[in-house]
Amino acid sequence: MTSTARFSDIADRFITRRALLKGGVAAAALGLTPVGRIAGAPARAETPGLQFEELGRIGKDDPTHHVAPGYRADVLISWGDPILPGAPAFDPMAQTAEAQLKQFGFNCDFIGYLPLKDGAASTAEHLASGESSHGLLCVNHEYSTPRYMFPNMKNSDAVAANSTPETIGVEKASVGHTVIEIRKAGGGWTIVADSPYARRIHAETDIDIAGPARGHKRMKTDADPDGVRVKGTFHNCAGGVTPWGTILTAEENIQNYFTGVASKLGPEYAREAASADSFAVGGRLWMWSTFDKRFDINVTPHEFNRFGWIVEIDPYDATSTPRKRTALGRFRHEAATIVAKNGKPVVAYMGDDQSFEHIYKFVSARPYLENDPAANVDILDTGTLYVARFNDDGTGEWLPLVQGEGPLTAENGFDDQGDVVIDVRRAAKLLGATETDRPEDLETDPITSRTYVAFTGGTDRKEAAPAAPRAPNRRGHIVEILAPGADGDRDHTATGFQWDILLLAGHPEAETNAQGKYGQGISDAGYFAQPDNLVFDPKGRLWIATDGADEIGLADGLWACAVTGPERAVTRHFFSVPVGAELTGPCFTPDGETLFVSVQHPGQGDGGSFGEPVCRWPAAMDSTMPPRPSVVAITRDGGGPIGG
Ligand code: FEO
Ligand code: CA
Ligand code: CA
Repeated sequence: MTSTARFSDIADRFITRRALLKGGVAAAALGLTPVGRIAGAPARAETPGLQFEELGRIGKDDPTHHVAPGYRADVLISWGDPILPGAPAFDPMAQTAEAQLKQFGFNCDFIGYLPLKDGAASTAEHLASGESSHGLLCVNHEYSTPRYMFPNMKNSDAVAANSTPETIGVEKASVGHTVIEIRKAGGGWTIVADSPYARRIHAETDIDIAGPARGHKRMKTDADPDGVRVKGTFHNCAGGVTPWGTILTAEENIQNYFTGVASKLGPEYAREAASADSFAVGGRLWMWSTFDKRFDINVTPHEFNRFGWIVEIDPYDATSTPRKRTALGRFRHEAATIVAKNGKPVVAYMGDDQSFEHIYKFVSARPYLENDPAANVDILDTGTLYVARFNDDGTGEWLPLVQGEGPLTAENGFDDQGDVVIDVRRAAKLLGATETDRPEDLETDPITSRTYVAFTGGTDRKEAAPAAPRAPNRRGHIVEILAPGADGDRDHTATGFQWDILLLAGHPEAETNAQGKYGQGISDAGYFAQPDNLVFDPKGRLWIATDGADEIGLADGLWACAVTGPERAVTRHFFSVPVGAELTGPCFTPDGETLFVSVQHPGQGDGGSFGEPVCRWPAAMDSTMPPRPSVVAITRDGGGPIGG
């Protein structure tokens, strides 16, 4: 069967099925499984429609950001802005590691907001306050880009020639995570100076290893002979917020900071060599290993095993030690979306953002106890990790990744659960998990409890597969996962699920399998490409950020839609980012009245650099400033919920 036939056979069938159901045609009469409706479940709750005047279509070369009419979008904080006491003002011509350690990092990404109650309060009291005008903003910094950070590194040769221990120190200090305290007053947000919560976490911060890989022989290095404590976290892309008041940050493209040749590792490191090949170590040239041998896999073979995890941070305690939660597996992590019900196990949904990798979920052994925060502290250390298999008929299974079960035996290199989580990709493939198209983000609708996965795309795909209907997948798509149960009451701990396709991204009139398919009636600004980060607003509308809409001539940005009712998948354009940037980290305050977004890598383009960017956003073009990744706060003129 050709890939085109597979596309129409699978994608159209699912979308048609949904249209038929919506039109009231009995699924049974068509001989179809009613995907999206579990038998016996009540009718779907309908998401309230969006009420905002759409932003018009914005081209990919636009030098600034734009928001829908009736809203304001203010830059809150930019790379280099002071965070910690004694931080100097940003001076791009005189950067030091010491300064960067106290300043906002580079390439902001995931954002989490946690409320702050005024006065002394416990974490539970802060959380219960639901405060939407005073809180902690917790922001990932994905990776450094020396070409755009330093004036003397305009191409890769210059990066190689001019990197020094000091510039590498600046880079290491610019990644990881930032916590700042913010307040809303007079309609705008400001950063609280000298806050006791302010914090930078970076590539040299002490981080504990927790879960089954703690103390594992393959986590031990000369610098950490017990295998219990790592220096740093980096390539922190997407993430999640837990209901017990912590941040989960996902280590994604960790291979970019490592160098070395896997084939030169000795036979005792065969699993490390296979892992380095799987992640594609050596594909990019960052200079860290020149000055710090822990990033050379041939010198320190186990160091690479100590990255690629979900890291849990307690932002309410600036002195707390973050923990790598190894029970959640090691891969190019994206997202860590928690579904928690009082008295039930906690579920975390996660994706591995590499072509032909997988979707995972973790189910805790212990129940989540909403009135006992201490009971939830290490809840992510013990439980079962699963990987998804999607079937062609719209069903799927979560396959347990447990040492000793099925092929996950010592004979196959899995001596214990530590080996399973370190090499979880290999374990997943042995179990027959579905190979997917770069899952970036997973989010669960707070109203219906349905879960959505944004697949950014898979240009290498040769043949369609369940939940990956286009080959090649050049524009990306969004899949809906239905845990058993009715809308609003789904059992996320179950091992079975059903799935559907919410939308296929792309231009609606493009040819062949690059054609977008949305709900009926989108405007000529309502389509996009490369869906990436997702977030739900408190009313259950889905907001979709893109990374790569320029491939169809559009600025990256943010689109929103209902996921149920007549406006299901009718996407509307809300915000656009400047040329060179992608939009990441969309995050709402609990009242839905502020939307924070990260504008990542603005001004970057082919052949560009610090001195020759394609724009200097957020500064004007004639400025001496380089472009600066920044967080933007979006509010409605006169107040009120974003999106109506
Ligand atoms: Fe950092 Fe998956 O993008
Ligand atoms: Ca991304
Ligand atoms: Ca998300």
